[in-house]
Amino acid sequence: MLLLYFSRFYWDEKVKLEDSFNATIDTLVQALDAKDTFTRLHSERVAAIATDLAQVKGLDEADRRKIAYGARIHDIGKVGIPDDVLLKPIRLTSQEFELIKSHTTRGAEILKPAARYFKEVLPIVLYHHERWDGRGYPEGRAGDAIPLWARIVCIADAYEAMTAGRSYSPPKSPQRAMQELEDLAGDQFDPELVKLFKGIWLQDPIWKDREVFLRSYTSPVPSLDLPLPSRSESGSATSPKSG
Ligand SMILES: [Fe+2]
Repeated sequence: MLLLYFSRFYWDEKVKLEDSFNATIDTLVQALDAKDTFTRLHSERVAAIATDLAQVKGLDEADRRKIAYGARIHDIGKVGIPDDVLLKPIRLTSQEFELIKSHTTRGAEILKPAARYFKEVLPIVLYHHERWDGRGYPEGRAGDAIPLWARIVCIADAYEAMTAGRSYSPPKSPQRAMQELEDLAGDQFDPELVKLFKGIWLQDPIWKDREVFLRSYTSPVPSLDLPLPSRSESGSATSPKSG
């Protein structure tokens, strides 16, 4: 009987801890959404894509849940980037681009006080802009030296960014974004993951078309009622502000 009581007690505590972790992630995402209205729900769609990609990669449910957490806060470091740079509607200067790039290390800094809770998702925040060929940032890691979870979020992030567009570049069609991922497989992206991505993309997942995803999405917390980017062609996977 006593054993049953303690089992129940620890289970309740575990649920409470997970609830508060979820609430913390929601708060961080809302803070970023409030700052950068153009990328509204970007992180949620990246999380949906990354979770599916992690599944076909064979990762278990516990890992997929952690990847979703990491994907939702992957750009949290952008809260530390001045608005006039983050929201600039034209191409960035090289100095401004360097500032944008710092969102990876800034994100890791923001999570530092709670590092023991975020330690598994922190590599996603820090390394989601590394490139397979070693020409990414912040450390220029290459290939398998880039943590797998960060490689997964990197592809999800690039696809979402290309199909969403940015303040200075209109969105690409899903087909064109898919083609660009394939063109950059082995350069920017993990080639095996791109193949797996194409496999699920061909099955028309809910996230394939951004507008379809946004229409069907029910936010766990009230979303800000803000305008969405319009639809047309162009943009680049390697553009400075992608992701
Ligand atoms: Fe990013």
